[in-house]
Amino acid sequence: MKTKGKKFTLFLVLMIFALITAACSDGGGDSEGGGSSSNGQVDVGIVLPTKDEPRWVQDEQRFKDALAETDYSTEILFSQGSSAKEKENVDILLNKGIKVLIISPHDGAAAAAAVESAKKDDVTVIAYDRLITDTDAVDYYVTFDSLAVGAAQGQYLIDKAEGTGVPLYLYAGASSDNNAFLFFQGAWSVLQPKIADGTFKIANSSEAEALKDTAELSRDQLSKILGQVTTNWDPNEAKNKAQTHLTGVAADMKGDVSILAPNDGTARAIADVFSSDGDITNYTITGQDAEKASIQYVIDEKQSMTVFKDVRTLVKDAIDMAVTVLDDGTPETTGSYNNGTADIKAKQTDVIVVDKENVKQELIDSEYYEASEFTGLE
Ligand code: GAL
Repeated sequence: MKTKGKKFTLFLVLMIFALITAACSDGGGDSEGGGSSSNGQVDVGIVLPTKDEPRWVQDEQRFKDALAETDYSTEILFSQGSSAKEKENVDILLNKGIKVLIISPHDGAAAAAAVESAKKDDVTVIAYDRLITDTDAVDYYVTFDSLAVGAAQGQYLIDKAEGTGVPLYLYAGASSDNNAFLFFQGAWSVLQPKIADGTFKIANSSEAEALKDTAELSRDQLSKILGQVTTNWDPNEAKNKAQTHLTGVAADMKGDVSILAPNDGTARAIADVFSSDGDITNYTITGQDAEKASIQYVIDEKQSMTVFKDVRTLVKDAIDMAVTVLDDGTPETTGSYNNGTADIKAKQTDVIVVDKENVKQELIDSEYYEASEFTGLE
């Protein structure tokens, strides 16, 4: 019995060990799409920033859908908000023999090391949604028009503002994300003239106030403002900042207000804070990503708008590029982005403003979401 008992315990230990090694080996991601081939080799490696934000879980699902069509083997890994984990993920994929790396960096500058090691292995690097900066180890970049995202958010606030001296609360994304600079720059390009002419008065940023007559902000000036109003893409940080701002401002900065929120996750957190302040009579708040929870907020008029970025298009562009490279072709591009070291050939997709008026048309009729996933949809 014992023998059996002893044999059984040994078997159990081996099983657990096998399971642990299997879990450790895939960097917390799913080998999806065509999955890894019989010999465990992978053609296309995909690295996404974090699973903790609905936005990137959207992309994972859209990649899975798109990859099911290709014969190439793929693997999707998440970096969980860590550049060290991101480098580890890239190394895991390089060890699996990838020929193409599709990567959305946690930190655009820190990711340079990871893609330089990929380049050493003669791997084609495609930056996905977020640009990797200060390296020439990036071959292609697929993205949405991030400047247009910010400009659309700013224009929406202008279109909804009534009168002059409207309190304007500014929030931004993480400074480690090159997109956060583009979003804010885009918003500022349309808001600044309206701040300078007195339509808006800035409620929560002395740096932005000091620059209100500056139409075009330098990277340093943008960094100063982002340093004050960043949410680090973290809804909790956004909530804490909003509470601090509302506690610290004078009564004339309440009433009907306008809020530039950089994306949906942070927008919902900020909206909840503003809607629970009795001195805030009305607020207009922006968003981005058309996350399901925010579409419900838009339907319930708790969030005013979101900027829809059809991830199906971005995924298709990235996969098409990868397949073209694997078939020894040259991917189609429509322009380039300078990342501080080189001009990276890019393919850019337009964005769509969604509010209560066109939710059904843009998100249900386009089959991005099902109507049954929401309540109160007219
Ligand atoms: C940006 C991305 C946005 C947003 C954000 C937070 O780079 O373009 O869609 O969700 O990251 O992860």
